[in-house]
Amino acid sequence: MTDQAPAAQTETPDIPGKPTSASRTTLSHIMTHNDTNLLGTVHGGVIMKLVDDAAGAVAGRHSGGPAVTASMDEMAFLEPVRVGDLVHVKAQVNWTGRTSMEVGVRVLAERWNESAPATQVGSAYLVFAAVDADGKPRRVPPVIPETERDERRYQEAQIRRTHRLARRRAIMELREKRAAEGFED
Ligand SMILES: CC(C)(COP(=O)(O)OP(=O)(O)OC[C@H]1O[C@@H](n2cnc3c(N)ncnc32)[C@H](O)[C@@H]1OP(=O)(O)O)[C@@H](O)C(=O)NCCC(=O)NCCS
Repeated sequence: MTDQAPAAQTETPDIPGKPTSASRTTLSHIMTHNDTNLLGTVHGGVIMKLVDDAAGAVAGRHSGGPAVTASMDEMAFLEPVRVGDLVHVKAQVNWTGRTSMEVGVRVLAERWNESAPATQVGSAYLVFAAVDADGKPRRVPPVIPETERDERRYQEAQIRRTHRLARRRAIMELREKRAAEGFED
């Protein structure tokens, strides 16, 4: 497999597309004793905050303005993170819809006491909605995948989007059915 650009597929006449690389971002942070849980390793919530920060920066860059977190899913913690580790949070837009974007995030840790390369310690997918000054969703530029890896991520994001919508629809239908049957909750 090569890492060449796949055929562009997301250009629309009214909003020009933006390549993935235009908004890709890495945030790096050294973990301290303030970041630990009762076991002495880094609290998952600290990592989630970094993930949301990095993804938010990417979504703001891509959409050219404010963007809010609509959902965060598949947050995986693969390895513990420790005090002193240098954590790198790498984020990019995987997919764009009309007003929303899926941002994929990988979390890597450089161990303070090892010379080994950075280890992947986590990953997540977040959906951001671009909003206007009134907090209403606004159009986003289509993302243009540049490499085969970007293209794979785009296609996988579409699968997640389909599943999110199907899950939400199924739950709403169940709630409506139960309400019609007289259940109060
Ligand atoms: C996200 C938000 C702007 C969506 O507003 P809305 O009036 O429901 O608007 P829509 O239904 O048109 O959704 C806008 C887009 O977001 C997507 N979206 C909305 N809720 C979503 C969810 N839970 N998961 C995934 N995508 C979602 C929609 O699919 C739509 O995408 P599209 O235009 O690309 O098809 C609104 O719910 C909001 O402001 N939420 C609070 C955000 C916030 O404060 N985040 C910080 C958390 S502390």
